[in-house]
Amino acid sequence: RRVVVLISGSGSNLQALIDEQTHDRLGGEIVAVISNEPEAYGLQRARDAGIDAVVLPHREYESRDAYDGALIKVIERHEPDLIVLAGFMRILTPRFVQRYFGRMLNIHPSLLPAYQGLNTHARALADGVAEHGCSVHFVTEELDGGPVVVQAEVAVAADETEESLKAKVHAREHLIYPIAVKWFLEGRLKLEAEGATFDGMPL
Ligand code: GRF
Repeated sequence: RRVVVLISGSGSNLQALIDEQTHDRLGGEIVAVISNEPEAYGLQRARDAGIDAVVLPHREYESRDAYDGALIKVIERHEPDLIVLAGFMRILTPRFVQRYFGRMLNIHPSLLPAYQGLNTHARALADGVAEHGCSVHFVTEELDGGPVVVQAEVAVAADETEESLKAKVHAREHLIYPIAVKWFLEGRLKLEAEGATFDGMPL
């Protein structure tokens, strides 16, 4: 089973997936990493692991649709079973989302449906919530709105800062994303008309 990972930045979630692959625990192979940002550190992580690292800068395309068309072409060359968004900071067109419907996962730093969008940690802190966390979900046309697959919670401490909260959540992301990817690659996780299922049971 073949996986293509899309990134824009540090790629620490990508690293968590690479680490599983290195130990033969991913249930598939990351065949390419694609970044829209030429300077993304995750590209180096891919190269260090011997994975094809591709830069596709969005600034070189005149429209979102042109970019997504180019992205599809690069992705298709690698014949993936699964697309993993790991800090890919681009809004995808409906055409792109439809093409990979049921075959694309994202990780988001909040307990969805709470705090969709950006600056999740600052907003959670400002609200004074006791619990925060991260979610893996299938990607649908609704931004950060697709069916949730797995979540991890963290307790928000009294003296929590945005940085400390972000670090806590990030550590949890690195635990749950490889699990969700493995479930998918093992054929246990599916997106059905009614939503996500695990071993045939609604999630
Ligand atoms: C993570 O916080 C993830 O939830 C969000 O983007 C960030 C990516 O971090 N979608 P990294 O590049 O994997 O370190």
